[in-house]
Amino acid sequence: MTKIIGITGSLRSGSFNTALLRAAKELVPHNAALEIATLKGIPLYDGDLETAEGVPSAVITLQEHIAAADGLLLATPEYNNSMPGVFKNALDWLSRPPSETARIFGNRPVAVIGATPGGFGTVLSQNAWLPVLRTLGTRPWFGGRLLVSRAHQVFNESGEMTDAAVRKQLEDFLIGFVEFIQAGNQS
Ligand SMILES: Cc1cc2nc3c(=O)[nH]c(=O)nc-3n(C[C@H](O)[C@H](O)[C@H](O)COP(=O)(O)O)c2cc1C
Repeated sequence: MTKIIGITGSLRSGSFNTALLRAAKELVPHNAALEIATLKGIPLYDGDLETAEGVPSAVITLQEHIAAADGLLLATPEYNNSMPGVFKNALDWLSRPPSETARIFGNRPVAVIGATPGGFGTVLSQNAWLPVLRTLGTRPWFGGRLLVSRAHQVFNESGEMTDAAVRKQLEDFLIGFVEFIQAGNQS
C-alpha cells in the first residue's frame, strides 16, 4: 500500500485546499492511501525558541508522518502570487534541524496541487514552491498539473467536490503520482 501524506496549506475551516485533499483521499487509487495533515499547532519559526526548546512537538509529529510516508502532496493556496506564509513557515520548521532534512525530505516524491476562487488556479503559488522543493532535496513529480480555479464553483457549501471534470483531473493526477512513487520504490 502506497502511503501519501497530504498537507493543506490553509488553516481555514472552510478551506478549498483542505476540501481538495478530502476529495483526493476519496479518489486516490485503491493501492494507495492518503492521510490529511494540517498546520495547526505549528508556531512561527523562531531561532531563539529552537535553541531554547528544540523543534516543537507539533513539528516533530508532522516530520515523523512525512518520514513514514512514500509521498508528500502539498495542497497550496495562493497569497499575493506566492505560497502562504503559514505554509512556508511550516516547511521551514519541518526542515529543522538541518541534520534531519535529508531524512524527512531527501528523495521523497512530492506533488503540488492547489485551489483558488480566482482564475489562475494557484499557478504562481505552485511555481513558488519549486525552489523550496529543490533545496529540500525532494523528488518532485512534474508529470501532471492540477490547477483548480473558480473553486467556489467546484465545491458545494459542504466542501464536497461537485465538478465532474475536476474530479476526473484529480483522479488522473493521483494515478500518475502514485505510479511515479511506485516506480521509484522499485528502482
Ligand atoms: C492575503 C491573501 C492574498 C491572496 N492572494 C491571492 C492570489 O494572489 N491569487 C489568488 O488566486 N488568490 C488569492 N487570494 C485568495 C485565496 O485564493 C482564497 O482566499 C482561497 O480561498 C485561499 O485558500 P483556502 O480556501 O484553502 O483557504 C488571496 C487571499 C489572501 C487572504
